[in-house]
Amino acid sequence: MTETARSHARPYDDVLETIGWTPLIRLHRVTAGLRTPVYAKAEFFNPGGSVKDRIGLAMIEAAERDGRLKPGGLIVEATSGNTGVGLALAAAVKGYRCVFTMPDKMSQEKSRLLRALGAEVIITPTAVPPDHPENYIMKGRAIAAAHTNAIFADQHYNAVNPDAHYKTTGPEIWEQTDGRVTHFVCSPGTGGTVTGAGRYLKEKNPDIRVIAGDPVGSIYTEYARTHCKAEGQPYKVEGIGGDKIPTALDFTVIDEWMFVTDRDAMLLARRLAREEGLLVGGSTGVNLAVALDVARRLDDPNALVVTILCDTGERYLSKVFSDEWMRENQMLETEPATAATIIGAKRSGAPELVTVAPTATARQALNLMSTYDVSQLPVVESGDCVGAVTESTLTAQALADPQVLEQTVRELMEAPLPVVDAALPLERLTTLLLRDRPAVVIRRDGRLAGIVTRYDVLHHVAGIR
Ligand SMILES: Cc1ncc(COP(=O)(O)O)c(C=O)c1O
Repeated sequence: MTETARSHARPYDDVLETIGWTPLIRLHRVTAGLRTPVYAKAEFFNPGGSVKDRIGLAMIEAAERDGRLKPGGLIVEATSGNTGVGLALAAAVKGYRCVFTMPDKMSQEKSRLLRALGAEVIITPTAVPPDHPENYIMKGRAIAAAHTNAIFADQHYNAVNPDAHYKTTGPEIWEQTDGRVTHFVCSPGTGGTVTGAGRYLKEKNPDIRVIAGDPVGSIYTEYARTHCKAEGQPYKVEGIGGDKIPTALDFTVIDEWMFVTDRDAMLLARRLAREEGLLVGGSTGVNLAVALDVARRLDDPNALVVTILCDTGERYLSKVFSDEWMRENQMLETEPATAATIIGAKRSGAPELVTVAPTATARQALNLMSTYDVSQLPVVESGDCVGAVTESTLTAQALADPQVLEQTVRELMEAPLPVVDAALPLERLTTLLLRDRPAVVIRRDGRLAGIVTRYDVLHHVAGIR
């Protein structure tokens, strides 16, 4: 640890004092080949693991100051999770009760987390229009209205949300870059972060450009262009984009919008973990996609791009970081099939490779083929393929002359089957089988590992079981 990284030198009075002043970290490997430096503000360093800790505390303190929230009160919020964590942390320290409404597309980790922090969570359907009573915001609002000494935190329409970022996130970025930041990349959910931090930075230097990413399916980009509310489409990235226009989002702060697909976002989030050691969620993938694009276009070592690492990837272990989930959602290519894939898929119960010695008789070879229900056998001597016998040829020869059954395989065998490596791509394997022999022998790690026939490949390609 470097001397400058020696933070937390003194004890804090409570966990809420540790919110903010998150580190700004330079990205290296994901930016390879780019001359523009890209820095990321690691909001997962907040005690609740996301950028939302900042507004959770701020919204509660504002309600206390206004007298809307008194000791023992209830805090209600419609939250995709992170704001709930921020509110629940502060509520735990301050002794308030929390109820959160959350759309059912959100990862289970998020609702479990909120319950662990003592909150009550109500899951609502994602696939309802924004004005439906079961919509998570409508529902949250109704719960708060039905209680006394209760507030609806209302992050989408609460001016305290952008204000918290104006007072903290923006000044931190300015100070951490010594005022050298030239581009701020931040994708809005409620819009609080980009509005507050972006506004502060532009007040400090009007030349700073603010660029927003938007998940494909969100209505924000279209609204920024036309001021018409289009109909949103579902998307998988959590926490950003939207199907309604929040007042916490000031469109005038944003100079440019860029759409990012779920797939690009998720794959970039995975790369950040593997290549930079930064475990983040899909919304950060959107930020990174835009930040990299901006850096590429600028191609300027004197520019300085800052983006936000919104929350910890631990919240998405069953989604972004699950290969199964990624494949189910067509966001991860299945590995290209190879010869090894084909032998792995054979589930006949027979050994992977049945061979015969050259000293065996034709009778023994035919018996082996019958026992294991195979139609050819590689002839193996000292670990090498020296020939092959096939059921059709041996049977024809034995029918013509039964003496053949007692002859050795060495006397009767044909040329050996081609031997290929287990990593041989399926396409090349197919070409070989069509052009050459009906089967090939597979070698893996220097050992003969299996046999693949035309029939096996057809099974694989046609999905026959
Ligand atoms: C994971 C995640 N990323 C980004 C954001 C966007 O931040 P903001 O609401 O300040 O625009 C949110 C907001 O909910 C979020 O949960």
